[in-house]
Amino acid sequence: MCGIVGYVGSAVASNRPLDVVLEGLARLEYRGYDSAGVAVAGPDGMKVAKKAGRLDNLRGELAEHPLPAGEAAIGHTRWATHGGPTDANAHPHVSYDGRVAVVHNGIIENFQQLRAELADHGVTPVSQTDTEVAAHQLALEMSHGGTLLEAMCRLASRLEGSFTFVALDRDDPHAIVAARRNSPLVVGLGEGENYLGSDVAAFVGQTRHAMELGQDQIVQVTPDSVRVVDFKGNEQTGRRFEVDWDVNAAVKGGYDTFMDKEIHEAPTAVAETLRGRTTPDGGLQLDEMRISEAVLRSVDKIIVVACGTAAYAGHVAKYAIEHWCRIPVEVELAHEFRYRDPVVNEKTLVVAISQSGETMDTLMAIRHAREQGSKVLAIVNTHGSTIARESDAVLYTHAGPEVAVASTKAFIAQITACYLLGLYLAELRGNKYVDEIATYLDELGKMPDRIEEVLGLESDVRELARSMSDVTSVLFLGRHVGYPVALEGALKLKELAYIHAEGFAAGELKHGPIALIEPGLPVFVIVPTPRRPLLHSKVISNLQEVRARGARTIAIAEEGDSEAASYADTIFWVPRTTPTLMMPLVTVVPLQIFASELARVKGYDVDKPRNLAKSVTVE
Ligand code: G6P
Repeated sequence: MCGIVGYVGSAVASNRPLDVVLEGLARLEYRGYDSAGVAVAGPDGMKVAKKAGRLDNLRGELAEHPLPAGEAAIGHTRWATHGGPTDANAHPHVSYDGRVAVVHNGIIENFQQLRAELADHGVTPVSQTDTEVAAHQLALEMSHGGTLLEAMCRLASRLEGSFTFVALDRDDPHAIVAARRNSPLVVGLGEGENYLGSDVAAFVGQTRHAMELGQDQIVQVTPDSVRVVDFKGNEQTGRRFEVDWDVNAAVKGGYDTFMDKEIHEAPTAVAETLRGRTTPDGGLQLDEMRISEAVLRSVDKIIVVACGTAAYAGHVAKYAIEHWCRIPVEVELAHEFRYRDPVVNEKTLVVAISQSGETMDTLMAIRHAREQGSKVLAIVNTHGSTIARESDAVLYTHAGPEVAVASTKAFIAQITACYLLGLYLAELRGNKYVDEIATYLDELGKMPDRIEEVLGLESDVRELARSMSDVTSVLFLGRHVGYPVALEGALKLKELAYIHAEGFAAGELKHGPIALIEPGLPVFVIVPTPRRPLLHSKVISNLQEVRARGARTIAIAEEGDSEAASYADTIFWVPRTTPTLMMPLVTVVPLQIFASELARVKGYDVDKPRNLAKSVTVE
């Protein structure tokens, strides 16, 4: 939520700072697209350009009114919190004396008090943002003397809430200074130039060398140095890491939208997430396992915390982990978790699932869990992210950068990682023999090809979507692991096509939702394999029940399932022999394609749905 980019280089009066920052903003636009702005500092002082709306509006403004060349630049793409999406509320915000420009991600909770203090200094903000207040406060701190870094230390200590601030000093364009608490910030390390970004996507086109920052840290970046201190000014050390994302992964590569490209990257995402997980003796290894085997053996409950699509991946995890490991698994929306006084202790393993690794709700949930003595294992896609850093163990999904706001390949990679975790625990705790684990891993290894097969349905699914351009409501039904897939299918449609959609556990239908069925209402039914007759027959009954009431039924079923075919108006086949627990990896794909096409037909922006942001860094 809000994207931040910073650049500082040694060339005097160059266009590179602005170019790098604009490129970074383009890559970060998925974090918010209410407005965009830049500030450049150099021999001609500091100049700002900002515009409400998409980055293209800012580019238009810069074409009409170019900024002078400089040595350093900062940029921002906004998801509005305080104040509407106007030019005035767009970042950067410049202090009353014109000395500093600031971009910010997060919410300053004591901003009213800070704003009131400004009145005593005769300073009146021109915007409604909390950020502008902080820009003026930073300038006031600087007026007491010292460097930008020292002023930032003093200011950061006075701020409450969550923030990443990046500040540029008109009088010293050789350095940018940033502070972070609860909001993300990563440093990119170049040669004779350095970068800052909300995540590595901001500078992945420039460098693969990066540095994580810890909680409550401030960084000063010059062309050839990176200095990290805490809010008191004590020297700190940032942790260096290498970005393993390919810059080509963050371009559309011939597809119309990032979402379409990312749907097609699902097979690779699964293969990459599985890669290198087995040890020579047939065992399983996870990435950063800082929880002892003894502790993992003593776990008596798992709670998955996550939001949105990631939470649905958690629902799938529940079925797999309980079945394989015989450990009770609860799945909780992260924002509900800490407010309900959950029963967690040192025998509880909390599993946080997050593509971005920055979702504030999930971050707060894991902090709460750790305070209660629980160990936290994170399933995360983004290296250097806060959730990865603050967890006791990390299992990375190697889905590559996901740019479209609606999650697709990351969801599939998260489910894959959950299977790995389940099998890892089953092996460690002796619930499954090594040869049984090997059989499951073998099946998982076949999933990329099975997903590829389902992608072959694309044109049929798109045609169906085009025939439904005027629908106003769609239902999705599933049972067992088909249930979270139904929830995800409905979420995709809401997010992208702005259509009322609901996912239900198929068995729940008769307890109320069946009243919604009316002639012509499209109902997707995720049908389990006929190899599980009990489960299968129940869903077939549910399919019949909605059809009998006039619904237009669309079944996603295993190839050759004649019963499903006889009750479906439209049927999409998924490959035969996919293990029951792994069905979500294939059944979700047609639903993703359907939502993407319906959004396109309706003329909506598939990659950037209204009101949303990909990385939600406020609670
Ligand atoms: C936002 C996004 C969703 C995503 C959710 C969780 O709501 O729009 O697509 O599923 O956040 O994000 P995370 O990065 O934690 O997986």
